[in-house]
Amino acid sequence: MRMIALLSFVLASLTAAAQTSVPAKAPRVPRQAVAQTPPMGWNSWNYFAERVSDKDIRDAADQLVSTGMKDAGYIYVNIDDAWQGQRDANGVLHPNTKFPDMKALADYVHSKGLKIGIYSGPGPQTCARYEGSLDHEAQDAQLYAQWGIDYLKYDLCSFGREVMQKQAPNDKAAQMRLMAAAYAKMDKALKATGRPIVYSLCQYGWDAVWEWAPSVGGNLWRTTGDITPNWDRIYAIASQQAGLERYAGPGHWNDPDMLEVGNGKLTLAENRSHFSLWAMLAAPLLAGNDLPNMKPEIKAILTNRDIIAIDQDKLGKQGSRVYSEGEVDVWERHLAGGAVAIAVINAGDSRYSTHPIHLNLAKLGLHGPQTGKDLWTGKTIKLRDGQPLELASHDVLLVRINALK
Ligand code: GLA
Repeated sequence: MRMIALLSFVLASLTAAAQTSVPAKAPRVPRQAVAQTPPMGWNSWNYFAERVSDKDIRDAADQLVSTGMKDAGYIYVNIDDAWQGQRDANGVLHPNTKFPDMKALADYVHSKGLKIGIYSGPGPQTCARYEGSLDHEAQDAQLYAQWGIDYLKYDLCSFGREVMQKQAPNDKAAQMRLMAAAYAKMDKALKATGRPIVYSLCQYGWDAVWEWAPSVGGNLWRTTGDITPNWDRIYAIASQQAGLERYAGPGHWNDPDMLEVGNGKLTLAENRSHFSLWAMLAAPLLAGNDLPNMKPEIKAILTNRDIIAIDQDKLGKQGSRVYSEGEVDVWERHLAGGAVAIAVINAGDSRYSTHPIHLNLAKLGLHGPQTGKDLWTGKTIKLRDGQPLELASHDVLLVRINALK
């Protein structure tokens, strides 16, 4: 019995040593090469939260393929919080029992032509109180690279309480510098692996993160607190993105949080509006729903190729909210080749055909009537100045105009 224990200790140490060693001559790939368009994929948190397991991740990968989502561009399968177990005597972090073999899981996801993401944070603990990366940044980054990880979401959480507040009590500016330094530290650790890993900052938009995230290697950064599958929250988050458009571009994106399409009690109109807004915002499209039980109408929303093309437009120019009238917002996004997308959102509950919405083309910089495609019906649509539009509560009109007149 003792002998077996000793043997397994030696084996574990050997594996740990193998896991932490840097591959000789690791190719140096500049991270700007990743996320040239907003990352697309699926993340476990919004549906599974802490229940997520190896099987859920494999199922999600299978489903991305079988539903056609992979072909539509959803490539990253991201494990969020709650995969972590304990560190061993060498400080090597092991997954918990729900994830028996992370390397095998990454290989499985890769075998489907997909990429895999993982989650940690700069504090001692993550938001759900699992092991964080504090003082183990380089070791964890090497471990992710060994496993074949392609994407890291790095979530502030306990770093605020345990490091920022303790090291710099009553000095907010110093606390913010500690936060930025922690993100820069993990960036350096990721770069040192030589593996192209998308770096996703999650610190809820603190200290105008959009102004400094690219300088610490961020490919995307959360701009707000957490999303919930609720129209008011989704609309509030979308509204907070107005004005941030100049910070986004290829390789560095504002992240209004993962999609709730298909979750909770969102109506179809709300799901459509949520997806349309995220596309106008050049937001990462990380589905967060229960893929094995996805309804056809939800799949139709998530795989609408015309709308994905708006999100993924090569120019990488995030849309702006051009004007609002009461509870109606009009967003515009300039696309490659001189095309534009226009989204009209009726965020209110009580707008009827007795008082329809009137579109103001001049405010959108459009001169005279235009012909475009209504991306939710697939039909040709003509837009005239002052044209009355009827939109159901929380619904959207999303039009692409390729040839401006
Ligand atoms: C924070 C993040 C969420 C999710 C959870 C996991 O709340 O903002 O997106 O990652 O932590 O614990």
